[in-house]
Amino acid sequence: MDSKGGVGRDQTLPWKLRQDMAFFRAVTTQGLHGVGAFVPAFRVEPVGDAPPRDTQNAVIMGRKTWLSLPEKHRPLAARQNIILSRNPSALSGIPTCASLEIALCLHDVQVAPEVFVIGGASVFAEAILHPLCHRVILTQIEGDFGCDVFFPAMPERFHCMTTSVWESAFAMSTDAKPIRFRFEIWSTQAS
Ligand SMILES: NC(=O)c1ccc[n+]([C@@H]2O[C@H](COP(=O)([O-])OP(=O)(O)OC[C@H]3O[C@@H](n4cnc5c(N)ncnc54)[C@H](OP(=O)(O)O)[C@@H]3O)[C@@H](O)[C@H]2O)c1
Repeated sequence: MDSKGGVGRDQTLPWKLRQDMAFFRAVTTQGLHGVGAFVPAFRVEPVGDAPPRDTQNAVIMGRKTWLSLPEKHRPLAARQNIILSRNPSALSGIPTCASLEIALCLHDVQVAPEVFVIGGASVFAEAILHPLCHRVILTQIEGDFGCDVFFPAMPERFHCMTTSVWESAFAMSTDAKPIRFRFEIWSTQAS
């Protein structure tokens, strides 16, 4: 999210950072093991490749986020993709789930090693209040990107556990100015 808590603009991500995308892919496919490569303080042992998994992590997203993904990238590879919609025929031919609770009860989600809610803003707002939500892994992007959807206020039960150092990178667009970013892990646990 940007400095104002913005997470999207015009149904897309206002920043296209290769590092952010790599972080997202690593975390959602490998879980904590993936985080360690980007936030050294959070490295989990053993260091190295993630152990092979029989089952994939699950990513839960709202219908608009699904539609915002480039067609060539959906479904997101090596993850169980669960899409929320209150309208069962919203996406022709693509199964959707009518509520977050129903999604969390799906067999694929129940057996997933880790479950990630990946947006958008409306799903973040509901999920962050859910008792099963105990960790928030986010990319902090410096600046105001004129977003029209925002991350919810962080509930008091979450504490920032660790951050990466600030880095700068050029966006994948034609923007001339580098973007400063860092990764943060918030948790409900004390340590
Ligand atoms: N920065 C980030 O990390 C990030 C991540 C993801 C997305 N985004 C951005 O966020 C924006 C999209 O967010 P958004 O809030 O507008 O849309 P969204 O949350 O992606 O999708 C909203 C839709 O999801 C369905 N939905 C949401 N909660 C539901 C629930 N509890 N049960 C059943 N269905 C539910 C509804 O679909 P129906 O209308 O079909 O019922 C709703 O209209 C885009 O700009 C996207 O690029 C940013």
